Amino acid sequence: MSASNPDRGQWSSKLTFVLAAAGSAIGLGNIWRFPYVTAENGGGAFVLIYLAVVILLGFPVMLLELSLGRFSQKNPVGAIRAVRRRTPWVIVGFLGVFTGVAILSYYTVVAGWTVGYLVKSIGFHLRTADFGTFIADAPVQLGYFAFFLIATVGVVAGGVRDGIERMTRILMPVLLVLMLLLIARSLTLDGAMAGLRFYLIPDFSKITSHTLIYAIGQGFFSLSLGMGAMITYGSYLSKRENLVSSAAWVCSFDTLIAFLAGLIIFPALGGAPAKGGPTLVFVVLIDIFNNMPLGHWAAILFFFLLAIAALTSTVSLLEVATAYLVDERNMSRRKAVWLVGGATALLGIPSALSQGAVGFLSRLIPKGDGHMGFLDIMDFLFGNISLTLGALLLCLFGVYVWKMRHAVAEVVQGCEGFRSWWQLWRLALMILAPLAIGTMIVYILVTGETLG
Ligand code: TRP
Repeated sequence: MSASNPDRGQWSSKLTFVLAAAGSAIGLGNIWRFPYVTAENGGGAFVLIYLAVVILLGFPVMLLELSLGRFSQKNPVGAIRAVRRRTPWVIVGFLGVFTGVAILSYYTVVAGWTVGYLVKSIGFHLRTADFGTFIADAPVQLGYFAFFLIATVGVVAGGVRDGIERMTRILMPVLLVLMLLLIARSLTLDGAMAGLRFYLIPDFSKITSHTLIYAIGQGFFSLSLGMGAMITYGSYLSKRENLVSSAAWVCSFDTLIAFLAGLIIFPALGGAPAKGGPTLVFVVLIDIFNNMPLGHWAAILFFFLLAIAALTSTVSLLEVATAYLVDERNMSRRKAVWLVGGATALLGIPSALSQGAVGFLSRLIPKGDGHMGFLDIMDFLFGNISLTLGALLLCLFGVYVWKMRHAVAEVVQGCEGFRSWWQLWRLALMILAPLAIGTMIVYILVTGETLG
């Protein structure tokens, strides 16, 4: 039986779990992706819609994933099979496993940038470093990509997980304090008010058809939902834990960090950004570091913390496919990790080369006055559409196949009080999520509008 597979484990305590789940959620999605997606989608109005997405869709879906994971004690594919033995719904599980690998492949590239800039700041090269040149340098990009992927594989294979998680317990508060300092610096730069206005005052005329698509996608991405990461993490939880408060903590932490990241980036931009794109945040940050006392040290600390935050996220991305191979295919953990790592390496190479190193990979589809490269397209398809679709299918699976009474029975263990709230949960899973996501999908299908 796979349930007794010795390569499975259990969290040692609730704190370790919340830290691991928060570690998964908090990452480049908050600090790199949230500000630039906000910049591209109208600023304040986007932030407001994003908050609604987290509360109305993110939290309920997280609770569903955690409860399904703890109920089944399995990876996403196994979890669905644990509810119903032979069912086409397993496709949702497989979609999740694949999506995880796809996200990991380009996420690791961006994580490599943080390491690259850590190295640059240690060597006092921040002032002379040009970000555009850096990301267009093929050997350098492949090198940092490989480095970060190997680090991730090492952590997941070597079981030093616990150590990393304990380390984040100290590092997360440090990250928070450092972010507050950077906010203070950013707010005192020229033009800070104009930037703040763009970020905080909603201008609803800026809402386009893309706003909802990106807000939903960003919500799921940032909270690590829609592909079974939280099913997998929930599967290591004991029946005594309170899933409701765990989910609430993770959602609040994650949203706070994203919000603070915006408070660093937008004041420094001094108004509506001329151009967004995946490089925006790095360029702005480097500018801030170069313009502050002790900026050199702040940069070292910041890029170090960001790399660790990214590592706890890549670990969770790799974990899903690994848990699938260990549980369902009875593979040893080590073999599974290396296999998935190898596949990720191949899939990630075009992303690593898509920021200028290889021309056609960098300019696949025209967008606005620029282009979308391979990395951007991967991010849109997997970090956005696939997660959203996965979350929708998971909601339907939860409501109609697993059934609310079973889901509620799972959540109630560890949280008796949930009995009086579960109807709201059902409302979110059965009506709100399908309505919002369904509208979005129909819109894309009808207008044929996709990327640009
Ligand atoms: N949530 C992480 C971030 O914000 C990225 C991430 C980790 C993720 N695991 C995930 C995204 C699972 C989607 C699904 O950086």
